[in-house]
Amino acid sequence: MKKITVNLKDKSYPILIQRGLLNQVGQYLEGHRKVMIVTDEGVPEEYAQRVLAQCGQGYVERVIQGEGAKSMEVYQQILRRMLKERFSRKDLIVALGGGVIGDLSGFVAATYMRGIEFINIPTTTLSQIDSSIGGKVAINLDGIKNCVGAFWQPKMVLIDPDVLATLPQRHINNGLAEALKAGLIRDESLFELFETDDPMEHIEKILYKSLMMKKKVVEIDEREIGVRRILNFGHTIGHGIESYYHLHDVYHGEAVALGMMKMIKDETIRERLHPIYQRLNLKEDIDYDRQQVYDFITKDKKIDGGTLTIVLLRKIGEAYLKDIPTEKIKEYL
Ligand SMILES: NC(=O)c1ccc[n+]([C@@H]2O[C@H](COP(=O)([O-])OP(=O)(O)OC[C@H]3O[C@@H](n4cnc5c(N)ncnc54)[C@H](O)[C@@H]3O)[C@@H](O)[C@H]2O)c1
Ligand SMILES: [Zn+2]
Repeated sequence: MKKITVNLKDKSYPILIQRGLLNQVGQYLEGHRKVMIVTDEGVPEEYAQRVLAQCGQGYVERVIQGEGAKSMEVYQQILRRMLKERFSRKDLIVALGGGVIGDLSGFVAATYMRGIEFINIPTTTLSQIDSSIGGKVAINLDGIKNCVGAFWQPKMVLIDPDVLATLPQRHINNGLAEALKAGLIRDESLFELFETDDPMEHIEKILYKSLMMKKKVVEIDEREIGVRRILNFGHTIGHGIESYYHLHDVYHGEAVALGMMKMIKDETIRERLHPIYQRLNLKEDIDYDRQQVYDFITKDKKIDGGTLTIVLLRKIGEAYLKDIPTEKIKEYL
């Protein structure tokens, strides 16, 4: 078993990584309390049943799958179920699914009775690599991504790479894009794992290195006022493209991959990226209306007055932040 501790004083928590871990989660759920397992219709039901069997007093709330679940309606659906089952502040939420389930149930945990504990059991590459740690939880509103949310750290993150066996290839690649980002901004040795024939052969190393990178950055800057913003590499334009495509037709990691390419002007880096994008079936460009994407970008919450902080690469493994007048992002679109 691999263990990483995210050190955030009284909010510190462990990340455990091990094949087959889904069959051993019971020991971490503390049998005496109620457990609400939140999952979605796309996550194989068997996974929820396996977790349920290990709970003393467990419940399963299965919501619709996809980005549409990060909505006020589904958020209320879970809150109402918890009220109905008389969940108290001492009870527990388990997020069992991808980044959508993590963001959504984390936000429920942050707000139900002013906040209860949650354990994240991520089941997609994207959530195992990236979204399950860091404490950013949110839902969308009126087509704007993550604009209602909180910082709420999980109690624990339990990662079982075996569950990826059922994940469709497009989602596998989508999540790997976030690990590629992690390598590009902070860890060339992680990037190099993508220069092999099949990165999935190294998935455990990819998970470990990506999580270590993110953990270190989050520990320095939990609330994203400084260095943590480098994690947004590719995300400014990426979020704009996601919103333009109504948060459906382009997945998050795919949009980030597009956004990263837009921010890289250095030909030698682009040369190394071409074969990787090809292997992962990630597009380097896509059709969109520049003005509309720009409008989405400027609606994003990360914009401070007339300036925008963008993330650029000095070289592979080294990113830096730069403030630009918001209008200037058009030069990258
Ligand atoms: N909080 C953060 O820091 C953070 C970081 C990055 C992304 N995100 C968010 O994460 C979301 C995307 O997450 P995602 O890519 O995991 O998408 P997702 O949660 O929608 O999962 C993708 C699909 O795979 C299905 N699925 C999940 N696990 C499966 C499994 N093991 N086998 C078969 N099918 C499975 C789901 O039902 C879903 O249809 C976006 O909303 C994004 O904004 C959050
Ligand atoms: Zn992301």
